[in-house]
Amino acid sequence: MTEPIELPDGRGRMLVVADGEALAAAAAERFVVAATAAVASRGRALIALSGGSTPKRMGELLAQPEFAGRVPWTETDLFWGDERWVPLASAESNAGEAMRALLDKVPAPPARLHPVATDLASPVRAAAAYEAELRRVAGTAEGVPVFDLILLGMGDDGHTASLFPGTAALHERDRLVVENFVPKLGADRITFTYPLLAVAGEVLFVVGGAGKADTLARVLEGPPDPEALPAQGVRVEPGTLTWLVDRAAAGSLRSAGERG
Ligand code: 6PG
Repeated sequence: MTEPIELPDGRGRMLVVADGEALAAAAAERFVVAATAAVASRGRALIALSGGSTPKRMGELLAQPEFAGRVPWTETDLFWGDERWVPLASAESNAGEAMRALLDKVPAPPARLHPVATDLASPVRAAAAYEAELRRVAGTAEGVPVFDLILLGMGDDGHTASLFPGTAALHERDRLVVENFVPKLGADRITFTYPLLAVAGEVLFVVGGAGKADTLARVLEGPPDPEALPAQGVRVEPGTLTWLVDRAAAGSLRSAGERG
């Protein structure tokens, strides 16, 4: 892993690892360290997982004894930064995927797992219920709950969580979780909003593969345009914003190239 590279204009810092496997291992390690530190200082950890392919591999690694044995599962509450409007049993479900790859294989108490309730009457209700559930678990009736760690991916169109280019959720300033209709998918999603991401102790983007390289360069080094590149709109204050990327994804970045 490289030394952290500071990015301009509050865009965080970047760590570059060799390949997809190193990326998943570094993300799994970060999960362990964040959970352990939070439990040591407050007796509990609050972590949000993302969907997508990279977290899938991270989950498989976390299920293995060398990682799983170091996670304080009984004190760790898990949420998801976004969800598709499908049943938990669907292959498309982010939470369902994490259950199958990881959470069914480790001693995580079911009461600590908080998937979006996609069996409610509508995505609007599910989003409101998810915000209420988060407030209940975090004990934050007012104000914004502070996650110890929020894992995020980035799509090749620059979306993150289910904050897609040009969609209404990008402009939400009050609610912490919203339904978001995504015209290009013709589908409803449930997603964390910028105000919730902004106060996290740590937001960790995990981005791998050459297919992401050009978008990553625009997000991290291009002119500000969060409407077109929602991942660029994630700002974290006073916590840390880290981009964990592999060499292939970093391939079009000037800042990575300068360091070799
Ligand atoms: C989702 C995700 C989404 C994802 C990115 C990157 O549910 O679609 O949460 O935001 O993280 O699309 O996905 P990959 O890691 O598979 O490229």
